[in-house]
Amino acid sequence: MRIWIGCDHAGYERKMEVIALLKKRGLEVEDCGCQGERTDYPMIAKTVADAVVANPGDRGILICGTGIGMSIAANKICGVRAALCADAFSTRYTRLHNDANIMCMGARTLGSGVALELVEIFLDTPFEGGRHETRVNMITQMEQE
Ligand code: RB5
Repeated sequence: MRIWIGCDHAGYERKMEVIALLKKRGLEVEDCGCQGERTDYPMIAKTVADAVVANPGDRGILICGTGIGMSIAANKICGVRAALCADAFSTRYTRLHNDANIMCMGARTLGSGVALELVEIFLDTPFEGGRHETRVNMITQMEQE
């Protein structure tokens, strides 16, 4: 599994902490920017979202001030299921039930310890499938209508 990661200026420091964790876990990481300069988050969200959709099985991580702008923007791309992750329960269930392929986090709303723990949960939790697959397929169908 390759991880496509991006941030705006508000998320840069947290992104570097997340990248260090991903590399420690031996994962292949593609850093889609920014490098700390003032950046419009929709542009970065689109880069990561396009890459995740083009590479099924890969995942994305997006970090801005709140995580909200990144999630709104990423979810405009067909095939993306981006979830704003701010607590362990929601992060676990967005994998189990929604098969989220991108996690979004707020650097200004989450401390480093919580953010890194949520990344571990996002990476380690499988999709449950079954009735949840039917529901995810309904979302995919909506994208095609
Ligand atoms: C940048 O100041 C801020 O608006 C951005 O990081 C994000 O929080 C948007 O949702």
